[in-house]
Amino acid sequence: MDKRADIVVVVNGLARQLNVPVRRNLVDMLRHDLGLTGAHVGCEHGVCGACNVRVDGVVVRGCLMLAVQADGATVDTIEGLTATGEIAALQSAFVERNALQCGYCTPGMLMTGAELLSQQTCPSRAVIRDAISGNYCRCTGYQAIVDAIETTALARKDGIPS
Ligand code: FES
Ligand code: FES
Repeated sequence: MDKRADIVVVVNGLARQLNVPVRRNLVDMLRHDLGLTGAHVGCEHGVCGACNVRVDGVVVRGCLMLAVQADGATVDTIEGLTATGEIAALQSAFVERNALQCGYCTPGMLMTGAELLSQQTCPSRAVIRDAISGNYCRCTGYQAIVDAIETTALARKDGIPS
């Protein structure tokens, strides 16, 4: 029988008490225990970035972290970032620049893009490409995703909120 553990995690601003199997990874906890299905599961090996979530302010692979390791941590998912409006401009740019087709990679891309934009005022296209190199997209060829992140960076540089 699976051993279980009690944990407390602040998810998208709300303290959640959970009893989880000790082998459950963070993204499965978010999806199955809390119904937050924005973070996707692709490779489950830390390769594709579909499962990216933010833990204590840093974007991590949700498939490579156990839920019990998040005990006491603050976790933000794409739902939380959407609700606060933190990434509204970036999300709009993804739509306007046609940066999503099936959208499977999009939550992870937005997480990574938002983290880059929080660290650099106006990254070059090469820097953007490097930042998203750990996120796989099967549909877009990446060009439009780079366009969307660059568009957001340039708008912010011009004083338009992002
Ligand atoms: S599902 Fe986690 S990196 Fe692919
Ligand atoms: S839009 Fe389909 S995987 Fe990226």
